[in-house]
Amino acid sequence: MNKNSAPDKDFSEVCNLSNSINKIVVSRGNPLAKLMIIGEAPGAKEEELGEPFVGRSGKLLDKLLQNVGIDINQDVYFCNVVKCRPPQNRRPTKAEIQENLPWLYQQIKLVNPRVIVLVGATALEAILKIKSRISILRGKWIDWEDRLVMPVFHPSYLLRNPSKEEGKPMSLTKSDFLKIKEKIDFL
Ligand code: URA
Repeated sequence: MNKNSAPDKDFSEVCNLSNSINKIVVSRGNPLAKLMIIGEAPGAKEEELGEPFVGRSGKLLDKLLQNVGIDINQDVYFCNVVKCRPPQNRRPTKAEIQENLPWLYQQIKLVNPRVIVLVGATALEAILKIKSRISILRGKWIDWEDRLVMPVFHPSYLLRNPSKEEGKPMSLTKSDFLKIKEKIDFL
C-alpha cells in the first residue's frame, strides 16, 4: 500500500463496517496540531456524537492531557485507526484495519503531525507493524516516517486499573504524557 496516494475508492465501498453504522467518526481537535493521537475505533458515544474519544475513555484521555498542560482543542488532533464502530465494540479485525488504513495514512499526510501517540495495541500494530505488548514499548520514542511516535496504554485499560500508586499504569501514563508535552513544546 502506498502511504502517500489518496484512496481511489469511496470509503463505503471499502469499509465493510460502514454498512452497519449511523455515523463515520473521523476526527476531533485541531487539524494543524503538532500532536496526533490515534486510537482503535469509535465506541457507542463516539458514534452517537460523531467524534473520537468522547466517551468514558475519552474523558480520561482529555484529563491526562490537560493535567500536563496540553490544550485539547488547540494542541491535539484525535482520530482512530478504524472510522466505524465495530459491532458490540469488539476489536477490529485485521481485514477491517487494512480497509481503513489508506484513510488513516491520508489523515497523517494532511495533518502532518511531528508527534504521534499510539493509544493501545491496535494503533501500535496498525502503524508500526509490530506485535508487542504496550507495557514493553509505552513511553518510548520511536522514529517512524520522519515523525516521533510514542505508544501509551489505552485509557480503557487505565479505567480498569485505576490505582494511582507509583509504578502502576496510571502513574506511568502520567509520566508518558509529561514527556509528550515536553517534546511538543521543544519541537
Ligand atoms: N477508544 C478508541 O480507541 N477510540 C475512541 O474514539 C474511543 C474509544
